[in-house]
Amino acid sequence: MKHILRLSWLTAALMIAAGGSLVAHAQDTNTVRGMAATCANCHGTEGRSAGTVPGLAGVDKTHIVQQMQDFKTGKRASTIMQQLAKGFTDAQIEQIAAWFSAQKK
Ligand code: HEC
Repeated sequence: MKHILRLSWLTAALMIAAGGSLVAHAQDTNTVRGMAATCANCHGTEGRSAGTVPGLAGVDKTHIVQQMQDFKTGKRASTIMQQLAKGFTDAQIEQIAAWFSAQKK
């Protein structure tokens, strides 16, 4: 009985491992989604702003990247975005920008 139990645990572990590599791409998307979610407090759900903060949904990717870089360097004055932009690498900014530009306005 103990033997069978151990075997089924092993099978389950193997299945999880195999499944993990299959969903690797989905996990990438989730990471970007998670980063983008931190913007939602101010820019609205999926970037559809309901307030005074500019919306990001459907905005040109290059525009978002440019603004983020300008916030980072201080070229564009901002209240909060400079601090936030500094927390992301260039690659992450690219990913976040691509994600927002793909959202419906
Ligand atoms: C605490 C609120 C807050 C959060 C969180 C936030 N933003 Fe902002 N964002 C602002 C405000 C306010 C502005 C207007 C400029 C300023 O005063 O900083 C702005 C401006 C921008 C702009 C320029 C828009 C334009 O068209 O001029 C971009 C791009 C941007 N944010 C991207 C992001 C991204 C990407 C995130 C998440 C990583 C994010 N923001 C998170 C408040 C926020």
